Amino acid sequence: MCGIIAYTGERVALPLLITGLSKLEYRGYDSAGVYTPEDGLLRSTDGVQSLAALAPNAPSGTFGIAHTRWATHGAPAVRNAHPHAAQNNILHLVHNGIIENYQDLKDELSALGHTFASDTDSEVLAHYIATAYEAGLTTTEALASTLSKVRGTYGIALVFADDPGTLYAAALGSPIVIGIGEHEAWVASDATALIHETKRVVYLEDGEYAIVTPETYTIKTLGHIDKTRTPQTVTQNAEELSKHGYAHYMLKEMHEIPTVIADTTRGRLSEMRSTVKLGGLEEVRRELERMERLMVVGCGSAYYAGLYGKYLIGSLVGLPVDLELGSEARYRSIPASRSSVLLAVTQSGETADTLASVKAFKEHGGLTLGLVNVVGSTIARTVDAGVYTHAGPEIGVASTKAFVTQLVGFGLIALKLAELRGVTSTELLSFKDALLSLPTLATEVLARSERVEAVAQHYAKYAHMLYIGRSLSAPMAYEGALKLKEVSYIHAEGYPAGEMKHGPLAMIDDAFPTMAIAPRDSVYEKMISNIQEIKARKGPIIMVATDGDYRAEEMADHVIWIPKAHEALMPVLATMALQQFAYAVALAKGINPDRPRNLAKSVTVE
Ligand code: M6R
Repeated sequence: MCGIIAYTGERVALPLLITGLSKLEYRGYDSAGVYTPEDGLLRSTDGVQSLAALAPNAPSGTFGIAHTRWATHGAPAVRNAHPHAAQNNILHLVHNGIIENYQDLKDELSALGHTFASDTDSEVLAHYIATAYEAGLTTTEALASTLSKVRGTYGIALVFADDPGTLYAAALGSPIVIGIGEHEAWVASDATALIHETKRVVYLEDGEYAIVTPETYTIKTLGHIDKTRTPQTVTQNAEELSKHGYAHYMLKEMHEIPTVIADTTRGRLSEMRSTVKLGGLEEVRRELERMERLMVVGCGSAYYAGLYGKYLIGSLVGLPVDLELGSEARYRSIPASRSSVLLAVTQSGETADTLASVKAFKEHGGLTLGLVNVVGSTIARTVDAGVYTHAGPEIGVASTKAFVTQLVGFGLIALKLAELRGVTSTELLSFKDALLSLPTLATEVLARSERVEAVAQHYAKYAHMLYIGRSLSAPMAYEGALKLKEVSYIHAEGYPAGEMKHGPLAMIDDAFPTMAIAPRDSVYEKMISNIQEIKARKGPIIMVATDGDYRAEEMADHVIWIPKAHEALMPVLATMALQQFAYAVALAKGINPDRPRNLAKSVTVE
């Protein structure tokens, strides 16, 4: 999510590092920082280019590390910006990823008298390595022994005061690449940051660390076993690299879904623990125990995630949930009190209508919460408490991975509310376990995308489509239709299947296909009746069906298969398939799905 660049060589490092950081801007950043021993630690929340002006003298350092931050732990602020220093500057470190057990490591260090200048998990890592080094381990022993205690993901670069000119780096679940030049070398999170300087690169594999000097690089495992790796030549340009080989950001972001689901549950949900850890809700737990109603607001996809949340919380927790569009709620007089709570759902955290609803609710004395992706965004700062989804920067205008993490976020919130309100059931337990297995199932859905693409080819020619679903799949019908509209410009309507006879059935003929989301759940038979009614009127049917549903192929013109899963999670898998469908239709129509006409990623005006 964040970006790392580090340099060692003969040239003045600071301008090189700032240029490298600017190449990582596409990853999104809320603060940036750079460290060279000669120029000191320079950090800012005013963008990468502001760093140069912070140098007290003409820059002179010839090695250093730099970082652009996309906040996960701790608000966007200078004190949370990287690099982080440890123990009187014996080392400086930059980090991408999430240290899941950072609180345990922090407690251990606090007991030894450590104090921390930031709220980040990354600073804890810096202190931990420095402590091992101070205790007499070598630089690499200190690094490897610390990393073997870490749970979570990291891509790191660090420099030790005692070892000028040497860059240290390590990777686990967050990429690190070494760039090799003439009497100089680079370390980066992403080759985009260095290909304007060198195209000769070496990638670290998970569980490896590297020692990099201007002339040499050494790669070892955390067990200090040497690894030989020959440099490869990067052939792509920067734009291609930032998409990580995918043709579009939308495709890249769909492929990130298994990872971001795991990021969203990481450290919050575990097989070993029966409780759910949502630190952001701790200070309002009393209010959540007593709350009588929850009101959810959001716009677009976030509103549909809210509808899923309404059904989920209603069924798992038994708590009544009202749902409102931000654009409507802001103009309605909403009776708010401390026993009613508003939850704003938003990827960007900047949507004007959602923000206005939060402010209105707050003015009436209600407690406000956020389910937000962008850390430190306006809504994240405005609400009283909340939960971050950890989808990372989403660049494609059509929400894909962020939407899925909103659904997962609602899963976590439902489990937390059940826990706080003393609701127990076997259903809750099986839902919790199922949530932990969701990344594997999501990977399976991605592996089947070719079939979805083949189905999509048949439907690119239609002018209209209907999407139907029931219960937890009804929100996916709305969302699937929105996705298709956004990226393919086909007119698509989402409808709860039970409403068909109340009007929409009149539209059906052989030119009006229906996407029926009909997983093997408790309303399956009802969906089958709807499908039969549409078929009787010659409406072409695509059915999103669960593996093993032998009736699907008989009934539907085309079937999109999803794996068997917990009833509440099959809609999540279905929505992924519908994203793939919309993407493929856009391509079939020659539309760039990353740049839908007339739309913007963040809707900051009414
Ligand atoms: O940033 P937000 O989640 O608040 O944005 C809300 C909507 O604008 C957003 O979900 C929009 O509908 C997407 N383009 C859908 O793909």
